[in-house]
Amino acid sequence: MSTAPAHKAAEWLEELGAISDDAPGLTRTFLSPALARAKVLVAQWMQEAGLTVFEDKAGNVIGRLECERAIAGTVACGSHLDTVRNAGKFDGALGVVTGVLAAANIIQSGRRLPYHLEIVAFSDEEGVRFQTTYLGSRYYAGRLGPTELTASDAQGTTIGEAIRNHSPMFPVPPPHAHLLGYVEAHIEQGPVLEKENLALGVVTAIAGQTRARVFLTGKAGHAGTTPMTLRQDALAGAAECILLVEQRAGNTSSLVATVGEIRVESGASNVIPGSVEFTLDVRDADNRARLDFCKNLFEEFETRMKRRGLEVRIEIPFVSPATQCSTRLIQSLASLVKKHQGRCPELVSGAGHDAVALSNITDVAMLFVRCRDGLSHHPDEFAAPPDIAAAVDVLTEFLSEFPMP
Ligand code: GLV
Ligand code: MN
Ligand code: MN
Repeated sequence: MSTAPAHKAAEWLEELGAISDDAPGLTRTFLSPALARAKVLVAQWMQEAGLTVFEDKAGNVIGRLECERAIAGTVACGSHLDTVRNAGKFDGALGVVTGVLAAANIIQSGRRLPYHLEIVAFSDEEGVRFQTTYLGSRYYAGRLGPTELTASDAQGTTIGEAIRNHSPMFPVPPPHAHLLGYVEAHIEQGPVLEKENLALGVVTAIAGQTRARVFLTGKAGHAGTTPMTLRQDALAGAAECILLVEQRAGNTSSLVATVGEIRVESGASNVIPGSVEFTLDVRDADNRARLDFCKNLFEEFETRMKRRGLEVRIEIPFVSPATQCSTRLIQSLASLVKKHQGRCPELVSGAGHDAVALSNITDVAMLFVRCRDGLSHHPDEFAAPPDIAAAVDVLTEFLSEFPMP
């Protein structure tokens, strides 16, 4: 393993990690000013590597290595440049940086590929701005339908308007030839590789997700004068719902469920909360288990909130079924990982990835990189430079001899 990619990757990840919409901390959302600055930096690295840079209307930056045979298919590799709020520097960015470094290795080696290669920095995987996710990768895959385009952000701008108003900084890409496959490197975001004392692993499947918004409506009133028995307190109702989520998910073997955001309308310390909205994120590799969990949970919300005199409304802005990675690509990636470290753990990803959106149109594979304490969606997120360099080596080999369908 050479040390050059390790230094380069660490330096680039630091540079990207300093580009944020808010300070202190790291936050970059779909088509935000910080995302634009990050794209300029990535485009520069792509150009220096010898890739031709394009940007599509959804803000995905694409570095392309043309094959001599124009009619050849395309192999895509990448990850996302957007982040959660107060994020770490590795989630998403690691896949972009390792992809560009792998392409640079291939170009430097003088090797001619029998397919076009695209390294893609996707503009939205986290879904922070619109609560619906994979906007960048779904657009790239041609799978962002008219229904999704109507969802709006906190300012009332719809996804459709945001995309229409976006002016790409680089030429718009030609329509891409059919995809032969997609590979994504990503930090594991969990503790397995660290426990196994191994730098890399491959992903077999990605858990399905349901993201809901729950609206509870009661009656606002005076905190000092309304007796406890006469209240319709929406926040107390939300508390009951949230504990129910935790308790029910805790009784399953693999399902996870999270309430990550809550908003109290006109909240004040001396007002009984009349209206509350909270998010719900439910995940499982088993689609049936996830769907049944949500159905039963929502019925129980209705029953319990009725007792409190509260109205319940539930919106489901995003559903993503579980994704299977391609057996052919898993085997090929795993054999390269074994060459590097002796053995290759196979993992199921609880986190969502751009590979999910790409799986609608092509075979996908994912390479996981060990991260410290399994921590992610946190500023202390960290992957060690030698582990990232190992990922660059494996990606370079994989993309150099992509296993054709
Ligand atoms: C993306 O990181 C997700 O799984 O929420
Ligand atoms: Mn993430
Ligand atoms: Mn990610």
